[in-house]
Amino acid sequence: MPATSEPAIRVRGLEKSFKALPVLRGVDFDVARGSIFALLGSNGAGKTTVVRILATLLKADAGTAHVNGFDVAAHSADVRESVSLTGQFAAVDEILTGRENLVLVARLRHLRNPGRVADDLLARFSLEDAAARRAATYSGGLRRRLDLAMSLIGNPPVVFLDEPTTGLDPRARAEVWLAVKELAGHGTTVLLTTQYLDEAEQLADRIAILHQGRIIVNGTLAELKQLLPPARVEYVEKQPTLEDVFFAIVKEHR
Ligand SMILES: Nc1ncnc2c1ncn2[C@@H]1O[C@H](COP(=O)(O)OP(=O)(O)O)[C@@H](O)[C@H]1O
Ligand SMILES: [Mg+2]
Repeated sequence: MPATSEPAIRVRGLEKSFKALPVLRGVDFDVARGSIFALLGSNGAGKTTVVRILATLLKADAGTAHVNGFDVAAHSADVRESVSLTGQFAAVDEILTGRENLVLVARLRHLRNPGRVADDLLARFSLEDAAARRAATYSGGLRRRLDLAMSLIGNPPVVFLDEPTTGLDPRARAEVWLAVKELAGHGTTVLLTTQYLDEAEQLADRIAILHQGRIIVNGTLAELKQLLPPARVEYVEKQPTLEDVFFAIVKEHR
C-alpha cells in the first residue's frame, strides 16, 4: 500500500502535442487523498487530455504522472485498477433498468454479491425510485447520477469526472453536485474537470486553472480570491468571485 501522506495524484512536467499542436506544455499538480480537485479551463484547454493520460488511455510525450502511487506509464494496469473514469457521455445501457446496469457492472468486476452492491449504491445516490425503470426513461441528471454510481463499483480510490455536469439543467447540476460531495465524503479522491467556475467554487477543495498548456494558478478558493484585492464600495466590502479571479488571471497570461 502506498503511504497515506503521498498524494493520490502527482503530475510533473506533463507535455503532450497532437501533431503540430502543443496542448500540454509542462503541467504540474498534486491532488491530496480524499480531496476534490477541480481542473478548470476553457473549452480546448487540454483538460480531457490530462484526464486521459492519468487514466492510461493516452501516452504523454514527456513528464511523469503517478496515480495512487503508481506510474501511469510503467504500471498502467495498477493505475487502471485504482481509478474510474466517467465523462460527459454517460456509459449507461439504455435498454437496462438502473438496477440492472449496476448489477451488470458488479458482475463484470467479479464482485461476490452484485445485487447487494447495486442496492447499496441505489440508496447512496437516492436512485431507489428509479431503480426498476429503464435508463432510457431517465432525465439527464438521473442518468449522470447512475453513471456516477456505476463508476464507484469496486470502490476505486480515485475517480475522474470529466465535465460531469456539462449539458445538464441547473436542477440536475445541483443533484450531481450533491452526489459528488457524497463521493468525497466517503474518502474517495476526486479529480473533476469543468468549464464552470461556479462548479469549481461549489465542489473543490483546490482549484487549478489550465491555460495555454500550463497550470497558471493552483490554490484553495480563498487563496484564489486573495489574488485580487477586494473591491470596496463605500462601507461595503465586495469579495471577488472566482469568475473575477479567472478573467483577471487569464488576461495576465495573454
Ligand atoms: N486525439 C486528438 N487528435 C488531435 N487533436 C486533439 C486530440 N484530442 C484533443 N485534441 C485537441 O487538443 C486540444 C485540447 O483538447 P481537450 O483535452 O479535449 O480539451 P478540453 O477537454 O479542455 O476541452 C483541443 O484543441 C483538441 O482539439
Ligand atoms: Mg474535455
